[in-house]
Amino acid sequence: MMFDMDNTSSFKNESFYNDTGELYKNGTLPIWAIKFYFTVIFFGSFVSFVSVIALLRCKRSGNELGALLGWWMLFQYRKKNPGKSLENVYMVCSTVSSMILRTIAKAEGFHFIDTLTGFKWIGNKALELQSAGKEVIFGFEEAIGYMCSMAVVDKDGVSAAYQLATCASYLYSQGKTINQQLQEIYDKYGQHLSLNSYYICHDPVLIKKIFDKIRTKRGPDTYPETILNGKYQITTVRDLTTGYDNNQPDKKAVLPVSSSSQMITFNFSNGLVCTLRTSGTEPKIKYYTEMCAYPDIKDKTQITKTLEEMVDAICEEMFEPKLNGLQAKAG
Ligand SMILES: *[C@@H]1O[C@H](CO)[C@@H](O)[C@H](O)[C@H]1NC(C)=O
Repeated sequence: MMFDMDNTSSFKNESFYNDTGELYKNGTLPIWAIKFYFTVIFFGSFVSFVSVIALLRCKRSGNELGALLGWWMLFQYRKKNPGKSLENVYMVCSTVSSMILRTIAKAEGFHFIDTLTGFKWIGNKALELQSAGKEVIFGFEEAIGYMCSMAVVDKDGVSAAYQLATCASYLYSQGKTINQQLQEIYDKYGQHLSLNSYYICHDPVLIKKIFDKIRTKRGPDTYPETILNGKYQITTVRDLTTGYDNNQPDKKAVLPVSSSSQMITFNFSNGLVCTLRTSGTEPKIKYYTEMCAYPDIKDKTQITKTLEEMVDAICEEMFEPKLNGLQAKAG
């Protein structure tokens, strides 16, 4: 695979256009052009399809591939810009994706920004940063969406598959496998283990009541401060339904707020990040949790145990599934 991802001008096909830039004047295309057009579309779709399959075939989760590709884009940036500070460098992720890049950013000195879910938010944030003179070198979303440069400001399986292939080939030259490299990333920056699931609830009024109870424990804007009677401390809360964020000096959330959907995120002092939200399209109350463990904690079994204990407590204490008659995800 030998094409330049930073220069796509050779892909533009100008033969469809007349000199005023319109697609043939009278709206009629010669039959060869139509055939050519559909062939290009067909092969384009085929290539993206194969790329996505290639990404899925590597049997790592979307978050793990995000960690690997993020590391790889940073590695290449440093190779191309030896000695340059990372002060101007950014990676962008949706807020329900793994926070591994936030951890790497903190350790390496570049910036990490989280956005709402969906590539339109990631892409728009990247464009905004770019026009402010910043360098966005990577963006991703947990559900297998990767943006490996600013050449295509969207999720792009083709460039992601290309980057994964070059990364694998580089690692091979170093006598390493992708799995070994991933292990190295998590050993260096800390294990990041996630546990996501949902409850089914068909009653929008009940859903609102559940979330309102979480945000008014002892009056307005009083969220839980601990779980399991003080065993695990909550350090910060961001509520994107009301716009409250106690991690901001003015207590106002930076991300856009939507009062029509529910979304609350908690940071715990031991590194657990937990988002509770409703789905826009399904009758679900979803939870996304990730334990961002400190690098000195090596015992994965222990981390998993703590994560499961905390997630059980969060579900019991915040959703009260029995009281509210919520149906857990099957299986
Ligand atoms: C969680 O803490 C990090 C800093 O470690 C901060 O950047 C982030 O905004 C916090 N998130 C919430 C939801 O408070």
